[in-house]
Amino acid sequence: MQLLFPTHELIESQQFLKSFFEAQKELDATKDDRYSNDVPRPKTMKEYVDTLLAHSRGENLPNDWVSYSTFWLIDNDEFIGDTHIRHTLNDHLRNIGGHIGYTIRPSKRKQGYGTKILKLALIEAKKLGIDFALITCDETNIGSKKIIEKNGGIFEKASEQSDGHEKKLLYWIKIS
Ligand SMILES: CC(C)(COP(=O)(O)OP(=O)(O)OC[C@H]1O[C@@H](n2cnc3c(N)ncnc32)[C@H](O)[C@@H]1OP(=O)(O)O)[C@@H](O)C(=O)NCCC(=O)NCCS
Repeated sequence: MQLLFPTHELIESQQFLKSFFEAQKELDATKDDRYSNDVPRPKTMKEYVDTLLAHSRGENLPNDWVSYSTFWLIDNDEFIGDTHIRHTLNDHLRNIGGHIGYTIRPSKRKQGYGTKILKLALIEAKKLGIDFALITCDETNIGSKKIIEKNGGIFEKASEQSDGHEKKLLYWIKIS
């Protein structure tokens, strides 16, 4: 199992694309709004990679966004999910979003992949210079809460959201 940054070479190789598109269909069919990032849906895979590369370099970011890196979780040659690692925190991320978001495709949930993707994302975060990672989840997101706690999350507080949305639970993980 590994995390891969989706580069142009990776897309051109066509490897993992079938499972990537199947996963997007599954995600479109779910009603949950807990995507790990609100990256605009790209029209083409070239545009998708261009956007992720630019955003990882801090270029062409939407207002109030910080630079971030995206990785695909691959297992047995299949796309399983993705994670977004924000390089720094702004006020919104400090109170709501945290450093790392992750999504597992619906057909692969409850098989340990969520726990694994955060474990691997923490290794990438460390490479990006993050020693203490802030990870957050909605208070009713039991799966994500367990994932954070299994990865050593230390609870800080529950944060109110201004839009009346349910509270966010904030946890810190020291990355060794
Ligand atoms: C949350 C999410 C990442 C969980 O992924 P996953 O692959 O199912 O996670 P795991 O298999 O590692 O599960 C970890 C634990 O949570 C439990 N769990 C997972 N989903 C659950 C759910 N919907 N309800 C209750 N428990 C759940 C698992 O049974 C497991 O419990 P255990 O440790 O006692 O065995 C996945 O549901 C998802 O992508 N959701 C939408 C995006 C999202 O919410 N991202 C997190 C943003 S904070």
